[in-house]
Amino acid sequence: MIITVSLIWFVVISFCCCLWLALGIRKRKPGEPPVENGLIPYLGCAVQFGANPLEFLRSRQNKYGHIFTCKIAGKYFHFLCDPFSYHAVIRQGRHLDWKKFHFSTSVKAFGHDSMDPRHGYTTENLHQTFMKTLQGEALPSLIETMMENLQSVMLQSDTLSPSKDRWDVDGIFAFCYKVMFESSYLTLFGKDLGNDKNAARQEAQKALVLNTLENFKEFDKIFPALVAGLPIHVFKSAHSARENLAKTMLAENLSKRENVSDLISLRMLLNDTLSTFNDLSKARTHVALLWASQANTLPTAFWSLLHMIRSPEAMKAANEEVKNILESSGQRVDPSKPQLTLSREDLDNMPVIDSIIKEAMRLSSASMNIRVAKEDFLLHLDNQESYRIRKDDVIALYPQMLHFDPKIYEDPLTYKYDRYLDDNGQEKTTFYREGRKLRYYYMPFGSGVTKCPGRFFAVHEIKQFLALVLSYFNMELLDSAVKVPPLDQSRAGLGILQPTYDVDFRYKLKTQ
Ligand code: HEM
Repeated sequence: MIITVSLIWFVVISFCCCLWLALGIRKRKPGEPPVENGLIPYLGCAVQFGANPLEFLRSRQNKYGHIFTCKIAGKYFHFLCDPFSYHAVIRQGRHLDWKKFHFSTSVKAFGHDSMDPRHGYTTENLHQTFMKTLQGEALPSLIETMMENLQSVMLQSDTLSPSKDRWDVDGIFAFCYKVMFESSYLTLFGKDLGNDKNAARQEAQKALVLNTLENFKEFDKIFPALVAGLPIHVFKSAHSARENLAKTMLAENLSKRENVSDLISLRMLLNDTLSTFNDLSKARTHVALLWASQANTLPTAFWSLLHMIRSPEAMKAANEEVKNILESSGQRVDPSKPQLTLSREDLDNMPVIDSIIKEAMRLSSASMNIRVAKEDFLLHLDNQESYRIRKDDVIALYPQMLHFDPKIYEDPLTYKYDRYLDDNGQEKTTFYREGRKLRYYYMPFGSGVTKCPGRFFAVHEIKQFLALVLSYFNMELLDSAVKVPPLDQSRAGLGILQPTYDVDFRYKLKTQ
C-alpha cells in the first residue's frame, strides 16, 4: 500500500517536473539575449534579484554583457545595462508599451478601477492632467503654498515647538516625516478649515493630519508586497489603513476643504465627468496621488538633510547660498514672524543645494524603468548589435547601475556634496564614460514618457525645506561620527530607498 502511494506521488511529481521543463523554461532562440530561467518554478530569479538587485545585475552583466534576460515572477525581463543604449528604450518606439505595467500596478496597489482608457472606465488623459497641474504655470502657486505650510508646521503649530534655549532631539527621518508630510499634504489636499484659527477646529485638523500620516505609514510598509502581486487582504491593518485613507478622500470630505491644489480639484472634476468610477474608486485614485507625492519625497528629504549635516563643507556652502538669496531680496529671518518667501527663480538659483539633493538621490535611488513589448521586434543597441524581443516581454533599465558606475562617478560610494557643480559653481551637466559624453547619467525620476511629472515640485519643496531648516535652526548630529545607515533593499525597484534605521540629531532655534 505504502509503495503504491509513493509510486503515485513519484509519477505526479515527475509529471509536474516534465511539464515545468517543457512549458516553464524558456529556450533561447537565435538572435535573443542570453536567458536565465532561475531554479524556482514561476519565481525564476526573483529571490536572488530581490535580495540585492544591483549585485545580481552586475554579476549577470559581467557574465553575459550589455543585455540579458531573467525570468522573474512568471515574466521575462530583458535588462539593458549599457547607458549608451538606453535611448533605444526611452525614445518610446512603436513596439513598446508603457501603459500596461503602470496602470496595472496602480490597480494592484490602490484598488481603484483601471485608469487605462483602453479598459473603458475613464477617458481621462492622466499624463495631461499631471502636466497641467504640476508643471509650468501651476508651479509658482504650489511653491508659495508649500513655503507657507512648511513655516507654519515648523514654527507655529505644535508639531515641533522649537526653542532658542533648549535643544530638541529627534530622529532625522522622523523629523522629515513630521514636517514634510504635513506641509505637502496640506499643500495638495487643502485644509479643513481654511484660515480659521478656532482652537477646536485647529485640533481637529491636526488630528486628521496625524491620522492620515499613521495610515500612510501603515499602508506604505506593505507597498512592495502589493506591487509584487500579493492581495491586500493578506495584510489586515494595511488594508484598513488604505481604506481609512480613501474615506478621508471621498468627494463629500474633499469638497469641504479649502485651498485644494489644482491637481486634486481637476482630478475630482475629471473623475466626475469622464469616468464611471464609483465614489470609493474615485477616492482611491486620490490615495494613489497621496502616495506618489510622499513616498519618494520623504526619504529624499532625509538623505539630503543627513548628508548635509554630516558634511561641514556642505553646511557652510548651503548656509551661504541661502543667506545670499535672502539678503538679495531684503528678507530678515525672524522665527516669531515666519514669512520667508523663495520664488521659483530663487529656488532655481541654488546650485549648491541642488547638488546636495542630487547627490543624496544618486546614492539612494533604485527605481526601475519598465516597458512591455507590444509585439515581437528587433531591439537595436548602440554597439550595432540587435536582439530579438518577444511580445509581452518586459524591457527594464535599472539606473542604480549608472549611478554607482565608477567609470562615470569617481569613488561612487562616497557622498560628495559638490559632485553636480562645475568649476564655476554652477550646475554640472556633462558626465562621461570612457571618454564618451553621456546623455543619461542621472535618472532618479524615471525616463521618457513615464518620467515623474512631480519632479520639479519635488525638488523645489526639498530645497525650501533645507533652506528653512538652515535659516531657522542650529542642527547637530548626536553622534558626530555616526555611520550612514544602509539602504533598505525591500523597496528596490520602486524609487528612493529608505534607511534601515533612523539617525538622531538635535536642533534649536537660531538666535539672530
Ligand atoms: C524626490 C521625490 C520624487 C521622486 C524620486 C519621484 C520618482 C518617480 C518615479 C521614478 C516615477 C515613475 C516613473 C517611471 O515609471 O518611469 C514617478 C511617477 C510619478 N510621480 Fe514622482 N517622484 C517624486 C516626487 C513626486 C511628487 C512630489 C509628486 C506629486 C506631487 C509626484 C507625482 C508622480 C506621479 C503622479 C507619478 C505617476 C506618473 C504616471 O503614471 O504617469 N512625484 N515618480
